Amino acid sequence: MIKYLITSALPYANGPIHIGHLAGCYIPADIYVRYLRLKGEDVLFICGSDEHGVPITIKARQEGKSPQQIVDFYHEMMKKSFYDFGISFDHYSRTSAKVHHQTASDFFKTLYDKNIFVEEVTEQFYDQEAKQFLADRYITGTCPVCKYENAYGDQCENCGSSLNPTDLINPKSKLSGSVPVLRPTKNWFLPLDKMQPQIEDWLKTHQNNWKHNVFGQCLSWLNEGLKPRAMTRDLDWGVKVPLADAQGKVLYVWFDAPIGYLSATKEWIGDKWKDYWQNPDTRLIHFIGKDNIVFHCIIFPAMLMAHGGFVLPSNVPANEFLNLEGDKISTSRNWAVWLHEYLNDFPGREDELRYVLTSIAPESKDSEFTWKDYQARVNNELVAILGNFVNRTLVLTEKYFNAKVPDCGKYTPEDLACLESITKAQQSIETALDNFRFRDALAALMDLARIGNKYLADQEPWKIFKTDASRVATVLHVSLKLTAAIATLSKPFLPRTADRIFSMLAMKEVSWKDLKAFQLPVQQRLNNIKLLYEKIEDAPIRKQIDKLHDSKIKQVQTPVINLPVKPDISFDDFQKLNIITATITEAERVPRTDKLMKLCVDTGSEKRTVVSGIAQCFEPHQIIGQKVLLLANLAPRKIKGIESRGMILMASDSEGKLFFATITGDAGNGNPVS
Ligand code: 2FM
Ligand code: ZN
Repeated sequence: MIKYLITSALPYANGPIHIGHLAGCYIPADIYVRYLRLKGEDVLFICGSDEHGVPITIKARQEGKSPQQIVDFYHEMMKKSFYDFGISFDHYSRTSAKVHHQTASDFFKTLYDKNIFVEEVTEQFYDQEAKQFLADRYITGTCPVCKYENAYGDQCENCGSSLNPTDLINPKSKLSGSVPVLRPTKNWFLPLDKMQPQIEDWLKTHQNNWKHNVFGQCLSWLNEGLKPRAMTRDLDWGVKVPLADAQGKVLYVWFDAPIGYLSATKEWIGDKWKDYWQNPDTRLIHFIGKDNIVFHCIIFPAMLMAHGGFVLPSNVPANEFLNLEGDKISTSRNWAVWLHEYLNDFPGREDELRYVLTSIAPESKDSEFTWKDYQARVNNELVAILGNFVNRTLVLTEKYFNAKVPDCGKYTPEDLACLESITKAQQSIETALDNFRFRDALAALMDLARIGNKYLADQEPWKIFKTDASRVATVLHVSLKLTAAIATLSKPFLPRTADRIFSMLAMKEVSWKDLKAFQLPVQQRLNNIKLLYEKIEDAPIRKQIDKLHDSKIKQVQTPVINLPVKPDISFDDFQKLNIITATITEAERVPRTDKLMKLCVDTGSEKRTVVSGIAQCFEPHQIIGQKVLLLANLAPRKIKGIESRGMILMASDSEGKLFFATITGDAGNGNPVS
């Protein structure tokens, strides 16, 4: 019999959970799991806190606490938020758990004993004062691309270029402020390059059943050619590398985190973990956000293949990103709707948020949450369609039949059509959920409620009660059946709504498979009828928008990007710059970077390559033929393996939007600017 092993990405325990997390991978996974359980499938839903990695140690340093204090705090907070929003994990664990350290360590040792790893000595930055190697995020310096002075060793937050720590000009340790030195250190690499054919063969079996955005990203990694990746790091926070010659080293967080799914399973069901992880009948499905695709579709499967004996993921329905009021959600900029704050401001309205986030889920492209849209969807859809149908049905039953479920007479064709729509809705929902199309599934549920409203409006029981009470009994019987069906069908999406409806109907829940043929408890008295949802007024919405706006104002007052104050320079210094006119003749994105573009620039005397951090503001085709000013005598440097000769001059506004610095008129190429 098929078993389902469903995981949601382990969130880093360095901050609270926000709506982007929920929409990205927790709500979809929860809907899917609840649906499977309703169908009686054997399913295990696993998650936990990701408590290792540099983000945790950075947060700890910022707050003057130990990493353990940070993860203890956020683990509890995140677990509570998930519980409050009805995310129904079978088990929510954490990677600081002993069972996890043991499992990750054993896993590494197995790969080591099988001679899978390639040992390699590389030069890494070392802080001589702090006496430790430095993670990329612990090194800052001047960005070689845009000259921003506080770029990190892995990325410049000003121009977005991905960097290696050794790319930085004037690197500095964030720990002591000293200049780090390069020191050789040994690490263990997973030879993804050698494993590429095996990974590729397996991935291709999923070409047609995985989402396009997911498979497409995998393909682009494969086309680039996989590179060996270090599975150990010189850090002191994490799972210790279980080898004698690995003092002061821990497992790479992306090695240990996915093993967290396995250790959480062990913690939950002991030896039975094998029934899921080592059973060919298991469907392993990872719900994640798009930034995690390579880890779940390439690196973790490669680890599982190398180990042997494990099932591989059968699907990875990754979502794109949810934005908020026109901007990217950002924990560090406090641009987010935090779940614990939402529940304070909108107590008891978990399903309203689940509804909206499912309706706008970023399934195939980034999507956007705005408070006005939230209000509109709650008021015009949940209240006006679903809530309205359920409440009208219950209130009419109370009014005409003393709140007792009436028996039905002979069904008319309209009654039968209405009842048949239950089966049709159920089929649509199943097809959509089987294909991870959660928005469509929810839309099918709402369509059923629309049918209910239309049925009541057409039958007009309030007009005929005096003359034909038995017909009204039948109409309300049909409406109550539809209400019960809506409760069952809404259970995956809106679990508390479903509970409330069944409680008002005072009946046992109708199971998924009984939907076609269940009976209502005739003469049973309804219970404590209340509005299912209430309208959301303008005032609380304005308050939320103001709250976000305030956080943006604060953000503007203390910008992340401080323009460096530059000392005066002499005219001679300026004269050293060879700025010339030029034209872009070719442009292409640099693979696996967000911001870099490789340009071919005509300087009049030659065509040269320049790498520029402009890819988030322009499409390659838009800038072919663009006249530019080029700093032509900037010393050549390698960026992502490409030799860049020169720098295109750009202006940027306070939002980071870029503009070409150019001249008016046509001065041709290669002419000096002074
Ligand atoms: O991106 C993240 O938030 C990671 N903590 C996800 C880890 S998923 C899994 F591998 F554990
Ligand atoms: Zn930069």
